[in-house]
Amino acid sequence: MALPQLSKNFNDVDHRDPKGEYIPISVEGLSTGFVKDLELYVRAGNAFFMVKPKSMELSPSLMSRFWGKFPYLYIHHTSRETYFRSLENSVTSIIKSPNYGLREKASVLTDYAVEIVDQMMRDPSSHVAIKSAENFSKECVNFIASSQHAFIHLVELSSHDHYTYAHSVGVAAYAVALAQSMGTWSKQQIADIGLAGLLHDIGKSVIDPGILNKAGPLNEVEWQTMKAHPTEGGKILRLHKHLSPIISLCAEAHHEDLKGMGYPKGIIASSLDSSVQVISLSDAFSALTTNRSYSKSKDSMTALKLMRENINKKFDPKFFERFVFMFLDPKKKEEDGFLKGA
Ligand SMILES: [Fe+2]
Ligand SMILES: [Fe+2]
Repeated sequence: MALPQLSKNFNDVDHRDPKGEYIPISVEGLSTGFVKDLELYVRAGNAFFMVKPKSMELSPSLMSRFWGKFPYLYIHHTSRETYFRSLENSVTSIIKSPNYGLREKASVLTDYAVEIVDQMMRDPSSHVAIKSAENFSKECVNFIASSQHAFIHLVELSSHDHYTYAHSVGVAAYAVALAQSMGTWSKQQIADIGLAGLLHDIGKSVIDPGILNKAGPLNEVEWQTMKAHPTEGGKILRLHKHLSPIISLCAEAHHEDLKGMGYPKGIIASSLDSSVQVISLSDAFSALTTNRSYSKSKDSMTALKLMRENINKKFDPKFFERFVFMFLDPKKKEEDGFLKGA
């Protein structure tokens, strides 16, 4: 059975408060109750209005007022710590619970990951944030293993967000799904690959935001600066000594390729641990299917076709074929000769 395609209108990046005073949380995860002790706000233009004081119960009738009308509610940034702790304390039981659907679980997991990426981008040396990232990765593996359709919910929801968050969460989800479907890694190794996906671009935390968010092509000097992010990422992740070395390796090598034409070192990627290939593929696909400041997102089929042109140069056919299997009905794929065109 074919997996559903990503929906076309998933790139809603306008829901973030430009001042950062209010933090968006997805309405779809509300029923899990993890925000029950927080004040909640709705947004109208640039104004925010409280719809639930701390003491008010988050009843089904209150929630029904938001469903279908507001994709996001907001918390004030002063409640952020409480919000994050609540997420952290409840995420494991929510993912395990038979009482919630895939969409609700994916929503909570995405909100959790977005907060972790935000913390890591602000303080990449934080051991507390790394612990949370490891917890996310473990739950991401449990969630994706729970159903064939779980990862699509996760990448679709994460794609609603700003590129920095959407991309990191998307790469983690694709990497876990691909690593699981290869069937050669243990659960712990897959969790490490998921963590590598979430943190592969952490080196961007030291790059000038003016370059990162530039709405247009980078000039030569800017491009050279940008190309330092894998090396910086490797350095940052090696500071966390308890992590598996594959996590810093993936950050360092995710822009290398099979012909030694990538950066920063021009290493032949097939000489490295094969988890690097999982991250490179997931990274390329997520980058193509997520809106960026300088390019519009592509649908998943167009993205796969563009990637197919780089088989044997950037992507190992064995991993690419498995990645395609995650999206296509095998019969249709045969009819289309999708992989024969490679
Ligand atoms: Fe990168
Ligand atoms: Fe990336």
